[in-house]
Amino acid sequence: MLAAGVLAGFSALSLLAYGYLSWGGAEPGSQPHLVFILADDQGFRDVGYHGSEIRTPALDRLAAEGVKLENYYVQPMCTPSRSQLITGKYQIHTGLQHSIIRPTQPNCLPLDNMTLPQKLKEVGYSTHMVGKWHLGFYRKECMPTQRGFDSFFGSLLGSGDYYTHYKCDSPGICGYDLYENDNAAWDHDNGIYSTQMYTQKVQQILQSHNPKKPIFLYIAYQAVHSPLQAPGKYFENYRSINNINRRRYAAMLACLDEAVHNVTLALKRYGYYDNSIIIYSSDNGGQPMAGGSNWPLRGSKGTYWEGGIRAVGFVHSPLLKNKGSVCKELVHITDWFPTLITLAEGRIDEDIQLDGYDIWETISEATFQITMEMTLNFSNSIVEAHIME
Ligand SMILES: *[C@@H]1O[C@H](CO)[C@@H](O)[C@H](O)[C@H]1NC(C)=O
Ligand SMILES: *[C@@H]1O[C@H](CO)[C@@H](O)[C@H](O)[C@H]1NC(C)=O
Ligand SMILES: *[C@@H]1O[C@H](CO)[C@@H](O)[C@H](O)[C@H]1NC(C)=O
Repeated sequence: MLAAGVLAGFSALSLLAYGYLSWGGAEPGSQPHLVFILADDQGFRDVGYHGSEIRTPALDRLAAEGVKLENYYVQPMCTPSRSQLITGKYQIHTGLQHSIIRPTQPNCLPLDNMTLPQKLKEVGYSTHMVGKWHLGFYRKECMPTQRGFDSFFGSLLGSGDYYTHYKCDSPGICGYDLYENDNAAWDHDNGIYSTQMYTQKVQQILQSHNPKKPIFLYIAYQAVHSPLQAPGKYFENYRSINNINRRRYAAMLACLDEAVHNVTLALKRYGYYDNSIIIYSSDNGGQPMAGGSNWPLRGSKGTYWEGGIRAVGFVHSPLLKNKGSVCKELVHITDWFPTLITLAEGRIDEDIQLDGYDIWETISEATFQITMEMTLNFSNSIVEAHIME
C-alpha cells in the first residue's frame, strides 16, 4: 500500500506522525494524482496487445510498462458500470440495474450515496470530470458538480454526435448535450470532435492546476461508442478494412489512442506524472454491430457473456512495484472506489457497505486477491453469480 511505503521511509520519530499522516491531512505531495480514463464500448479484442488489427501504440506501451488486468470485469452497459465505479457498490444496491438512464427518464444515481470524488475531496483532492456522465440529470442535485466534482465538462447522456454534440432521442427530438459545470457550453458549439475537445480540456486543467496539490481526473471519453464518426486523418491505416463500421471504429480508436498519449504527455509536461496513477478501463464489452470486437470471448455489450463484461483494463504508474506484469486475479470495477480512496489516504466509513475491495497490493505487488466471486445481476429472484476458477 502506498501509505505504508511512505511511512517506511521515515525514522522511528516520524512514526509519531502516523495519526496525522493516516487521516486528516497527508504529507504534501504524498497523495498520488489519480487519473481514471474510461473508454466507451471498447471491445475486449480492440487493443493492440489483445491482438487487434487496430493499432493502439500508446495504450500498448502504457499497459506494457504498467500492469495489465487480464481478469477484469465490469457491467454489460454504461450506466450500471459508471454507477459502480463512482459508488463502489453493485448496481443492484443503487437501483440502477435496469439498463441505462434514458434521456427523458426522471432518475439518477441515488443522492444519499457517497461518490468517489466526494470522498477524495474530503482528503484535499481537486476533482475534475471531463466526458460522459450518464448517471442522471433530472434534478440539479444529480449533476456531476453536485456529486463531488469541482468542475465538469462533458455530456450528460451518451451517443450524441461527436461534432455537433447534439443528442437525438427520437427523430426530431434533439438537444444540445455539452455542458460546462451546470450550464450548456454554447461556446463549444463549434464542431470539434469530442475526443480531441476533451483532451484539450484535460490539458487546460492540468496546466492551470498546481501539481503539488492532489488531483482526481475522471476522463470518460465518448469514443468508441456509436455514432461511428472520426476525423479523416485517422482512417489512413485502415482503408483496407472492408466492413465500413469496423473501418470507422478503427479510426475512432486510433484517435482515442492518440488522445491517451496526449494526456500522458500533459501529465509529464506539467509535473504530475511521477506521482500519478493512471487507470484505463472500458465501461463494457464491444458492440460488433457498431464495429467492436470481443473475440475470442462470446457475446457483446448488453449481455452477461464474457464478451459483455470482461473488459480491457490496465494500470500505469511510476509508483507500481510490479511494473511490466500481468495481473490475473479477479478485479472488478467496484474495486476502484476503495482502492483509490485508500491510495488517497482517505477514510472508508464502515457504514458505506461497499461491494468492492482494495486491490492495490494485488495489482502493485502481485499478491493474491481474496475475492473469488462477484455478483452480476439479480433477475426475477435468480441470482446470476459468476464464480472464478
Ligand atoms: C446508499 O444507497 C442505498 C440505496 O439507496 C442506501 O440503502 C444506503 O443507505 C445509501 N447510503 C450510504 C451512505 O451508502
Ligand atoms: C494530440 O496532440 C497533437 C499535437 O498537439 C494534436 O495534433 C492532436 O490533434 C492531438 N490528438 C488528440 C486526439 O487530442
Ligand atoms: C438485470 O436484471 C434486471 C431485473 O432485475 C433487468 O431489468 C436488467 O435488464 C438486467 N440487466 C441486464 C444488463 O441484463
